[in-house]
Amino acid sequence: MSKGIRIEGLKKRYGTGDTAVDALKGVDMQVEPGEVVGLIGPSGSGKSTLLKCLGAVIDPTAGRMVLGNEVIYDNGWKVRDLRALRRDKIGFVFQAPYLIPFLDVTDNVALIPMLAHASNKEARSKALELLAALDVQHRAKAMPSQLSGGEQQRVAIARGLVNRPPVILADEPTAPLDSERAMGVIRILNEMARKFETAIIVVTHDEKIIPTFKRIYHIRDGVTHEEAGEGKGIE
Ligand SMILES: Nc1ncnc2c1ncn2[C@@H]1O[C@H](COP(=O)(O)OP(=O)(O)OP(=O)(O)O)[C@@H](O)[C@H]1O
Ligand SMILES: [Mg+2]
Repeated sequence: MSKGIRIEGLKKRYGTGDTAVDALKGVDMQVEPGEVVGLIGPSGSGKSTLLKCLGAVIDPTAGRMVLGNEVIYDNGWKVRDLRALRRDKIGFVFQAPYLIPFLDVTDNVALIPMLAHASNKEARSKALELLAALDVQHRAKAMPSQLSGGEQQRVAIARGLVNRPPVILADEPTAPLDSERAMGVIRILNEMARKFETAIIVVTHDEKIIPTFKRIYHIRDGVTHEEAGEGKGIE
């Protein structure tokens, strides 16, 4: 039984005709459950495009993607309900936190399990558990506008993890954080990966966290190359 994520020959073309951009030209990638891999490449190389395809936010043009035992894309989506796929299988962590301004910190996180039909009480307790793990439980009743940038980011990360998705896609998750907080985020991602057999892809330019990865995919002009990382882990 194969789990985790597998991507084979993935292509993405934006637009058509003279203005078409081939952002992904045949990407191969495999992430095992429990693994945190880095995705590194210059600006415009296709990192965000790859995460958006894998997260079913945009449609690829061709190729194949397998999530757990399920072929989700094979020259077309094989999943009927893409909204449910995004909600239940994929956790997103973006560079900009995108918190909902009129909900407090706890509700920003609890909203996610509620959308997946958890009870109010269950959703709040899951939210508080993740907020504690990310060291922001003392801000549980605050509104997003009252938080520092780093606190907002940690709340956004709690939101990405709260449903325990089998896959987490993180696009520059540590960019706004100081190095101690950045390492804290990497520690949480590694713990999540181990505990819940999550497959995690982290797009980053952050020199401090690159040495923590055991495996790194380099992407350039829409093509990936795998490479062993320093694999120092954390601490
Ligand atoms: N919606 C779009 N329409 C047309 N072209 C796009 C679109 N989104 C991205 N592109 C192009 O696709 C290529 C890959 O973009 P992408 O955003 O995936 O790069 P990236 O590696 O995430 O870069 P960065 O490090 O700057 O975030 C770039 O040439 C970009 O201009
Ligand atoms: Mg990007």
